[in-house]
Amino acid sequence: MLLHKIEEVRKHVKEWKKQGLSVGLVPTMGALHDGHLSLIEKAVEKCDKVVVSVFVNPIQFCPGEDFDKYPRTLEQDTKLCEDNGVSIVFAPNTTEMYGEVQMRSNDFLTYVIPPFFYVNKLCGKSRIGHFDGVCTVVNKLFNIVQPDYAFFGEKDAQQLIIIKKMVDDLNIPVKIIPCPIVREDSGLAMSSRNKYLSDEDKIHALALNKILKNIKSCYQKGINDVDALKETAYEFLDEHHDLEYLEFLNSDNLDEVTKADNNTRVFIACKVGGVRLIDNIYLG
Ligand code: PAF
Repeated sequence: MLLHKIEEVRKHVKEWKKQGLSVGLVPTMGALHDGHLSLIEKAVEKCDKVVVSVFVNPIQFCPGEDFDKYPRTLEQDTKLCEDNGVSIVFAPNTTEMYGEVQMRSNDFLTYVIPPFFYVNKLCGKSRIGHFDGVCTVVNKLFNIVQPDYAFFGEKDAQQLIIIKKMVDDLNIPVKIIPCPIVREDSGLAMSSRNKYLSDEDKIHALALNKILKNIKSCYQKGINDVDALKETAYEFLDEHHDLEYLEFLNSDNLDEVTKADNNTRVFIACKVGGVRLIDNIYLG
């Protein structure tokens, strides 16, 4: 069932809760691919009822980013959800989520601001305000749907860690379920933004996964010095790659590490053909 209004979603959820049914939420911005499908499958397996939200959230895009051209495929997304056991696809418009007045400028909206320590690195460094927008919308979705479980992909690992922190710090009664990265057969991590890549870009984009896999294999052979591990990346990079970061951080709290261990996650962001791609790998 496709719903656009907050009140309609609330009505259904209230009914489910009365019946003692568990509710799962899969928050998305649409353009669903197999990565999203794996979250949906996990949610359907674990919960009696599943809500998938489809909302291209304007306040998490920075000026000059791809908000306008972000792929919007609601009809296809709704069908995919319905074919896979989702009870409600919640696709509000911007006014429904934020109201006319609140969108006039940031001065009119209450934001949820995650801690500086968590956002002042990786994607947060170049995408100023991005995680404020993510936390604000996810918090709103939690309040609207009141899910028992919410499912997030490890592809956006910084986002996942920040959302877990928000849930802990604000005592939000939801259990966050992390879901593994889904890759194309080539190894490329699935992303709605892969649609922007040409066939040639897709080949160059494989460098991200190759770098991460090679680092993990070097670590498993006994190299744990982060500088030495970072060096290994350069053999996979050429003029087709614009590396933004390659960072080694503690997987729970994003603390920087100089000696990698089993709780280290390696994060990479790199532009290929003008498209910004991210990926990560857990060393443990
Ligand atoms: O990961 C995403 O698609 C978005 O950041 C999310 C969590 C749906 C919030 O808009």
